[in-house]
Amino acid sequence: MTRPVLARDFFPASASMRSLALLLACGLALTVSGSAAFAETASDAVRAVPVAPETSDTAEWRAEPHLDIVPRTKAEAGRISAVLAPPVEFSAPEPFEGKPAGAATTRFIPTAEAFSQFSPNMPVEREMDFKIGNAIFRKLWVGAPSSTRGSDGLGPLYNARACQNCHVKDGRGHLPEGPDDSRVSALLRLSVPGGPDRPEIPDYIPTSPDPVYGGQLQDLALAGFLAEARMGVTWTEEPVTLAGGEVVHLRRPTYAVENPAHGAPHPYLQISPRVAPQMIGLGLLEAVPAADILALADPGDSDGDGISGRPQIVWSSEFDRPMLGRFGLKAGNATIREQAASAFLGDMGLSNPLFPFAFGECSEAQADCRAAPEGQETGVRDGLEVDRESLDLVSFYSRNLAVPARRDLDDPQVLRGKEIAYGIGCTACHNPKFVTHRLQDQPEQSFQLIWPYTDMLLHDMGEGLADNRPESRADGREWRTAPLWGVSLNGQVTGVESYLHDGRARSLMEAILWHGGEAQAARDSVVDLPAPDRKALVAWLQSL
Ligand code: HEC
Ligand code: HEC
Repeated sequence: MTRPVLARDFFPASASMRSLALLLACGLALTVSGSAAFAETASDAVRAVPVAPETSDTAEWRAEPHLDIVPRTKAEAGRISAVLAPPVEFSAPEPFEGKPAGAATTRFIPTAEAFSQFSPNMPVEREMDFKIGNAIFRKLWVGAPSSTRGSDGLGPLYNARACQNCHVKDGRGHLPEGPDDSRVSALLRLSVPGGPDRPEIPDYIPTSPDPVYGGQLQDLALAGFLAEARMGVTWTEEPVTLAGGEVVHLRRPTYAVENPAHGAPHPYLQISPRVAPQMIGLGLLEAVPAADILALADPGDSDGDGISGRPQIVWSSEFDRPMLGRFGLKAGNATIREQAASAFLGDMGLSNPLFPFAFGECSEAQADCRAAPEGQETGVRDGLEVDRESLDLVSFYSRNLAVPARRDLDDPQVLRGKEIAYGIGCTACHNPKFVTHRLQDQPEQSFQLIWPYTDMLLHDMGEGLADNRPESRADGREWRTAPLWGVSLNGQVTGVESYLHDGRARSLMEAILWHGGEAQAARDSVVDLPAPDRKALVAWLQSL
């Protein structure tokens, strides 16, 4: 096997604060069935380590062109910092803790519908918009041309026919359990190292789509076209013994690009497995002041707690500028609308106002696919497959899925678990609370005290979770802190417990035990906890 090109080849020295590129020998094992000859150890990972404190550009990153903000008064700012202060004692819940999304909290329902409710503070006159948005989220698209005008344009390559097929019941996806299980709700993102730099984004790590397979592996295609490949996954079980003797089995996935239709992918292909995340509370996360997220960043770990936290900065196609990334598992999108638009294009092959390409994700090398019939006609649906109104309605829907109320928050075991979570450093990343912006035209998200348990920052999670595929300035070991609100309800909503970016964890304890890197100390503390305290920690997670 030839040695992969060194990372520094892709890091031309620049005057800006430049990252140190390290090579990690570790890697996600990448196998391509039928061609075992190349790249058994993935792309030697490209790691970016900031060498200078991030100060110069942060004023730019605070820009929030997606929001119509009423600035906070001084008096409000004072009240907010008092409300956001961490608790000093744990014998009773804090005020408002039971309503994690403030007035956008819905009552808990013990069924599969728990994530599908609209925010109760949504004005009545917008209920119809929510319902139409829901219909677009569930709509099954078909190939063009079709008599079903208004729903055609799917593909030619796609991963799913509807948003809802991946975000199952507005909850999350899962990995295929066996060769015959559905792989619809999980996907592989693809890239190869190197490509044009983005000088506007410090520490940007250049990557390009695979020259043939593009930025995402589509494992489905319309009749007459070849699906690109099949996502293969095999498992190895690894036991972890906890203090007191309990053994938890982790399953470590190995991914493969099986049956590639157009020959072997690039030899340095980087692949990132992802399952669709839960859809609740997203509008509130979009309305958290960027300045408050940036204030939590500590890229050089100046407080010495072992936890750094870096803001993701991405290029926004919607606003044509760098912005704070918030959505996606490496926070690769700045807004919900942009995330939805890229899903229409990449996951379903549908052109839309932000990405007006009817051929979807077909690469230049896939000429027949680029020449396929389009679902767009002049004068119909804005000349696109998904018109502006539909994109806006599905974005509105995605912003307004309510967060269920907490359960059992005054149970002594839950309170003990909360105390442990604060004590061992879970909340250093899973930041409990924010207050959202006051917004002119979004009463549903405006000025709410929310408890999402995320800092919206990127953290190095260690080798075990690394995908070794950079995305904008996130490196191959970094992930956005997952919000923990509603996390334990996923089994109830979809019938499958599935945690972490690729759904490898089958229980909350497995999810914790995969934590490494900056979270290694917190994970080790959990292993060492007396069994009743460990139970209490899980009980707290289950109450969120
Ligand atoms: C093929 C499966 C699939 C389909 C279809 C799909 N998504 Fe997703 N969705 C994902 C995955 C995977 C992610 C995580 C993306 C990433 O990390 O880049 C995601 C992320 C998101 C997020 C961000 C959530 C968060 O916590 O940051 C939103 C919003 C979203 N999708 C909305 C939609 C909408 C709207 C549609 C339909 C237009 C859609 N998705 C279709 C798989 C899918
Ligand atoms: C250094 C930051 C950090 C610390 C400390 C940390 N986490 Fe996490 N946590 C993350 C990140 C990042 C993810 C997402 C990882 C992924 O998707 O692969 C995550 C994911 C999770 C998940 C899975 C969520 C989901 O949606 O699938 C749970 C549960 C969780 N953390 C609980 C905890 C608990 C409990 C602690 C304390 C013992 C803790 N975390 C400490 C950063 C952290």
